[in-house]
Amino acid sequence: MPVIQTKTKLKKELNNLSNKLDLGLVPTMGALHMGHASLIKKAVDQNENVVVSIFVNPTQFNNKEDLDKYPKTIDTDIQLISAISDKIIVFTPAVSEIYPDTIVPKTYDFEGLDKVMEGEFRDDHFNGVGTIVEELLNVVQPSKAYFGEKDFQQLRIIQKLTEIQHIPVEIIGCEIVREDHGLAMSSRNERLSKNIRQKAAFIYETLKTAKNKFGTENALNLKDWVIDQFENNHDFQLEYFDITDVETLTPIKNKINNVKYRAFIAVYVEDVRLIDNIALN
Ligand code: PAJ
Repeated sequence: MPVIQTKTKLKKELNNLSNKLDLGLVPTMGALHMGHASLIKKAVDQNENVVVSIFVNPTQFNNKEDLDKYPKTIDTDIQLISAISDKIIVFTPAVSEIYPDTIVPKTYDFEGLDKVMEGEFRDDHFNGVGTIVEELLNVVQPSKAYFGEKDFQQLRIIQKLTEIQHIPVEIIGCEIVREDHGLAMSSRNERLSKNIRQKAAFIYETLKTAKNKFGTENALNLKDWVIDQFENNHDFQLEYFDITDVETLTPIKNKINNVKYRAFIAVYVEDVRLIDNIALN
């Protein structure tokens, strides 16, 4: 399986493909798990050729310690990818390859999608994500690119990025993959103790009950109900719970017919920050 470090070599490899127009891209930061694998498998099913990038992007971290602590498991990542298909091209650039001069993000106008939830608590995070994804889309020029609904706000922002930057690619959203008891898969789950990892199923259980209540409750009462659930459970500290319109990601007070809504949550458990979300209708 080709594992390539530079843009020049990657472009050469892509130029040699017989069908350059049937190419899928799966951007990742490594530490791969079954959530990532589901994106890669979907890309392999839908495209003749697939590039998986592994790059821990410094400009999307607003905390140096978080960046330094990010797990690096390149050998097992490569094993996981090659077990899906050894035809996949893996792109693992160094930071200097992507940011040759200064390690700063571009600034985008995401029309407010970046100002709520993850954006409210993480300055410049989505400008960093936009910068690396735009660069990868420009270098690889895929026909389709795959992103998980686990980071639904990121998925919406990437759709907006391709629109405002006029990038001709189809963005494919992929369902959230969960552990058996319901916790959304994340490399951060490895940092939880065994006992708390089991208990963290509470996050998804609360989202599912919120979804059931959404038919009959108003949005503000539902938010208060969720806040109450977490106040009564001392293993967790709720950072936010919001119900938003899926298009604008604006938190709502009242429902309107024919609009699609989603609930989003961020919770601290043993100092590990976990996020999750669920479609409500
Ligand atoms: P990373 O956290 O490595 O995630 C890579 C992709 O896997 C993202 O699209 C993410 O939504 C998806 N993913 C992660 N866990 C998932 C799960 N449990 N179920 C389904 N999909 C899941 O997201 C990033 O990297 C970066 O921000 C990136 C887009 C690569 C830009 O640097």
